[in-house]
Amino acid sequence: MSGAKALFGVDIGGSGIKGAPVDVERGALLQERHKVLTPQPASPESVVAAVREVVRHFDHRGPVGLTFPGVVVGGHTRTAANVDKGWIGLDAAGLFREALDLPAVVLNDADAAGIAEMTHGAGQGRAGVVLVLTFGTGIGSALFTDGRLVPNTELGHLELRGKDAERRASSAARERHELSWPQWAGRVDEYLDLVEGLFSPQLIVIGGGVSRKHEKFLPLLKAREAEIVPALLRNDAGIVGAAMAAGA
Ligand code: BGC
Repeated sequence: MSGAKALFGVDIGGSGIKGAPVDVERGALLQERHKVLTPQPASPESVVAAVREVVRHFDHRGPVGLTFPGVVVGGHTRTAANVDKGWIGLDAAGLFREALDLPAVVLNDADAAGIAEMTHGAGQGRAGVVLVLTFGTGIGSALFTDGRLVPNTELGHLELRGKDAERRASSAARERHELSWPQWAGRVDEYLDLVEGLFSPQLIVIGGGVSRKHEKFLPLLKAREAEIVPALLRNDAGIVGAAMAAGA
């Protein structure tokens, strides 16, 4: 069991809600994660109930960090591109604190993954401008300058060919439009051109569920100024980053 002082991370995604106690010093899960399906519609009440189930699966008594796939400022959720609109304007941290009866912090999902990658993964020790991008249902972004996060950058919503970029280049777009890997890589390249033109990062870390299959598309991307590397923590980055935020 996780013990009195352990930190706990919960990653709230469009399809699954998963959590585990985390060793934040090592950036590793202390126990196998527990996952439940994200209720549909993902209303605040139903998500809170699912999160409670995930946390109660463990004998956890310490602070909990939670990710959210939208803008989060001071624990309040401000946008909800891929979840129920009922989240907009909520004191989400307060809601979770009350429901779990534990200290709770909430942060953007890509920011959480980015924090974990910068400390324990592909961005470790990297100075300058580093951009962590997560390709999943949407496109998440975490921007770092000399290791410090600029939160809530929301670069998945940049405009690409007259559309929200994540509608064209997310991993979900690849599945929705039945794109081949080369076709999708072409779209990702267009997207990376856009972000590279705006931020000139030295390093771009590619995360999200699809990073498990990085050998299928990273070699297809064109050479550019920024170094492009796959995320190292893969799908656990959100849980680890959330727990780190809970302990910060
Ligand atoms: C949301 C971001 C989120 C990303 C990945 C976007 O639609 O606006 O806040 O980080 O999806 O989940």
